[in-house]
Amino acid sequence: MSDRRRILMTSALPYANGSIHLGHMVEYIQTDIWSRYQKLRGHECYYVCADDAHGTPIMLKAQSEGVTPEQLIEKIGQEHRADFADFNIGFDHYHVTHSPENRELSSQIYLALREAGHIHSRVIEQAYDPEAKMFLPDRFIKGDCPKCGSDDQYGDSCEKCGATYQPTELKNPHSVISGATPITKESEHFFFQLKDFEAFLQQWMQDSDVQSGVVNKMNEWFESGLQDWDISRDAPYFGFEIPDAPGKYFYVWLDAPVGYMASFRKLCSDQGIDFDQFWAADSDAELYHFIGKDIAYFHTLFWPAMLKGAGFRPPSGVFCHGFLTVDGQKMSKSRGTFIKARTYLDHLSPEYLRYYFAAKLGAGLEDIDLSLEDFRQRVNSDLVGKVINIASRCAGFVKKLGEGQLSAQLGRQDLFDQAASASANIADLYEARNYREAMRQIMHLADTANTFIAEAEPWVLAKQEGKQDDVVTICSDGINLFRQIIVYLKPVLPELARGVEQFLNIEPLAWQDVQTPLLGHRINKFKPLMQRIEPEKIEAMVEASKEDLKAAQAAPTTPPKATGPLADDPIAETIAFEDFAKLDLRIARITKAEHVEKADKLLQLTLDLGGETRNVFAGIKSAYDPSELEGKLTVMVANLAPRKMRFGVSEGMVLAAGPGGKDLYILNPDEGATPGMRVK
Ligand code: MSP
Ligand code: ZN
Repeated sequence: MSDRRRILMTSALPYANGSIHLGHMVEYIQTDIWSRYQKLRGHECYYVCADDAHGTPIMLKAQSEGVTPEQLIEKIGQEHRADFADFNIGFDHYHVTHSPENRELSSQIYLALREAGHIHSRVIEQAYDPEAKMFLPDRFIKGDCPKCGSDDQYGDSCEKCGATYQPTELKNPHSVISGATPITKESEHFFFQLKDFEAFLQQWMQDSDVQSGVVNKMNEWFESGLQDWDISRDAPYFGFEIPDAPGKYFYVWLDAPVGYMASFRKLCSDQGIDFDQFWAADSDAELYHFIGKDIAYFHTLFWPAMLKGAGFRPPSGVFCHGFLTVDGQKMSKSRGTFIKARTYLDHLSPEYLRYYFAAKLGAGLEDIDLSLEDFRQRVNSDLVGKVINIASRCAGFVKKLGEGQLSAQLGRQDLFDQAASASANIADLYEARNYREAMRQIMHLADTANTFIAEAEPWVLAKQEGKQDDVVTICSDGINLFRQIIVYLKPVLPELARGVEQFLNIEPLAWQDVQTPLLGHRINKFKPLMQRIEPEKIEAMVEASKEDLKAAQAAPTTPPKATGPLADDPIAETIAFEDFAKLDLRIARITKAEHVEKADKLLQLTLDLGGETRNVFAGIKSAYDPSELEGKLTVMVANLAPRKMRFGVSEGMVLAAGPGGKDLYILNPDEGATPGMRVK
């Protein structure tokens, strides 16, 4: 590849309503490795991204936090930027979709599409929350599944039986925002006529770099017919108002991909790059989008069609990756495997994860598993045990016996040449995003270097008379092999590479440096370049992830906004019906209530369960005088294991509500309920 390519590449824009987690990091690490690789090869390459800041969930989240959407996205934007920077993700620019550049480009594209006749409007019926005074996206309506009857299901699909349906089909529907029963209301919407682009998309699919799995998907979509796409939303909405349509906003997915262009436009104006050279219809630059497989429809149908229709060039390729699992399962908050980027960084070096993902990522759509024990072993054995080991075995002898000067000539030119000749193959593997195989071949080079050193035994020679020069030559060979390996790893491990450049006392390494050895050169003192991962670090990260969960539960985040007691004591994690059914709640009559000597909180209650009598100690002394209680009906947990207390055995529990002190209320069922009845 002698020609200097011009490449613009992107990762999907993360939503500005939540933290970056390790699932996201698969994508940003995958893309960053490719970008660093292209730059290392000397190409003109730009990697841009942005926060995806629009849409109903962000608007509502801001409301529930009592801030403006602008304040929310500013705060989250800062958090995202810090997470990415600390993972060594080298964006050339990181923007936000709520920006002047994006407003202008989105409007320009929309107007061009309208001008060319690809936009139509029609009146549709939609669910509307009469209390919150807004149209409801499917996910903001809940009710009973029309198929299996399970309650509390979303408006688009049932998590219990998997059925998909229209929100209007839900039984007992209610708005998640206000709890009100949605009504149906008419509104004018704008549609992008995707089928105008069918022939173009078929051709684009052939001509561009799209994985076979995605081609199959696209063919299914073509077969089932390309549908019009609803690109407008009614106020209130956080987004851009549509030109000539007051109160109508672009649907977040219309301006999100335009955010790629907008981020790049900002970079162009900051650095004097020619925007049109990359985006004009006849551009010869390459344009690649890295995305997760869940958003392929937007990137392989809508987006190329929008670009084409508005007179821009389409992408050269769309690269999809699979989803992250942890220890073979979906990331789980309760298991502590839903790990935020920041929580990871609090405990471990970003380079470990970058290497591990590289060692697992192929060019396909398969999910990738972060197995925590495998992660630890792999990093320790490959990076510390194999790669760093080469330098740590050699550096001391060069320092001691060669006064820090590498030998003037290689001893084993053959080994150096062998490592140099791997260059083309490793380059092809990076280019094809087959990082997994690239890492395998690089580790093979490290094995060869270690075997060479082990067999040459410089530590034995060092003790022999007159063998000092030999020792320095062996170790200089080792250092040169190490340097070649670091060049190959540099896209994956930029921080390690910086440390090595410092140690070797050299300019930043470039790809072609593998072809020329470092001879007669003075190197610096070797400092440990990477530590082993201790199991405790991983345990601590998992524990902290469970704590993140507690913090998240304590903070009111999801709509509806919690007020009153709910704000301090949020609803606990959802349980299955079977869990609820384990509780045997019964109506009981308090036949006797007495003070307990020396107990400052407890009253002793005698409860009649309709044929059975229970003795229960209840912590309600601060709120009730025993005489008020006698004769009252209440509710008790009848199947709670008996508990031995200082004053006797408590055979169950009565239910009361409130924060405590005087502010405490026992449950008191209506007359008609009789002792022993089951509460369900
Ligand atoms: N905002 C949209 C993208 C708009 S692009 C014009 C979005 N945001 S996201 O925050 O939900 O996801 C951002 C990227 O991270 C997506 O490509 C998504 O596939 C990827 N991932 C999110 N969770 C993931 C895993 N658990 N595993 C791997 N990638 C995942 O979608
Ligand atoms: Zn169902």
